[in-house]
Amino acid sequence: SFVNGNAIFGAARKGHYCVGAFNTNNLEWTRAILKGAQEKNVPVLIQVSMGAAKYMGGYKLVRDLVANEMEAMNITVPVVMHLDHGNYEAAKECIEAGYSSVMFDGHDLPLEENLAKTKEIVELAHAHGMSVEAEVGSIGGTEDGITGAGELASVEDAKKMAATGVDYLACGIGNIHGKYPADWAGLNFDRLKEIADALPDMPLVLHGGSGIPQEQVEKAISLGISKLNINTECQLAFADATRKYIEAGKDQEGKGYDPRKLLAPGTQAITDTVEEIIGWMGTPSID
Ligand code: G3H
Ligand code: ZN
Repeated sequence: SFVNGNAIFGAARKGHYCVGAFNTNNLEWTRAILKGAQEKNVPVLIQVSMGAAKYMGGYKLVRDLVANEMEAMNITVPVVMHLDHGNYEAAKECIEAGYSSVMFDGHDLPLEENLAKTKEIVELAHAHGMSVEAEVGSIGGTEDGITGAGELASVEDAKKMAATGVDYLACGIGNIHGKYPADWAGLNFDRLKEIADALPDMPLVLHGGSGIPQEQVEKAISLGISKLNINTECQLAFADATRKYIEAGKDQEGKGYDPRKLLAPGTQAITDTVEEIIGWMGTPSID
């Protein structure tokens, strides 16, 4: 069964380390992420965006898929089942569907409404023993139809959001979803430090984790980032490995066109990426 994210990310903030949150897109993604986390023997968060859940057949199906794969694969590491960038309806649906964590992303609402709706979701989720992530400021770029202007989170807004009882907090600190542009200014560490100092127990979440130079991620972790969200990096790894397989003509040798063979190199590339990121994030393994 799934674990609530509160304990995992709270311990990470206290221990100055970070735990990976990886987006799933289908069966192969789900297996690849679970395999990577199990091999590294670390806790992991599997998250699904509203768009990916729609593609996969609904929130309940995604939840059941992850749970069934955990059982079939004898997964022993703690797994958090999380909704990524959910609206109000999606968050409620995932709470009903038995997730262990949801993100309510109200970045496009007026602050007062974002706070009020977050509070409602927090009350409902906590009554079910689940944890909640909220967002202040916004993440630049677009992920699965969720677009943000990339406004910096203010310390005041972060404090107001923390007062809703939310368990972990995503802050806009110059981070961007998808690939980073060549002229990207980098993360705003001054703002991150101000927020982290104002909220010393709050696990902070870094969205748009793909493509941030390792030194910047390490510095962000040292300042209070406890959850690193990764999606694009795994997509790129899957696409590259699949392209290589096809360009080498392997799909034409023997039964190489069988989807179970065709999708294997890409799936392994996701596992490798997950393990590599867990490695340099420094998530401590479970004794
Ligand atoms: O919510 C998911 C993440 O923020 C993923 O961002 O696709 O840039 O890795 P990314
Ligand atoms: Zn995100």
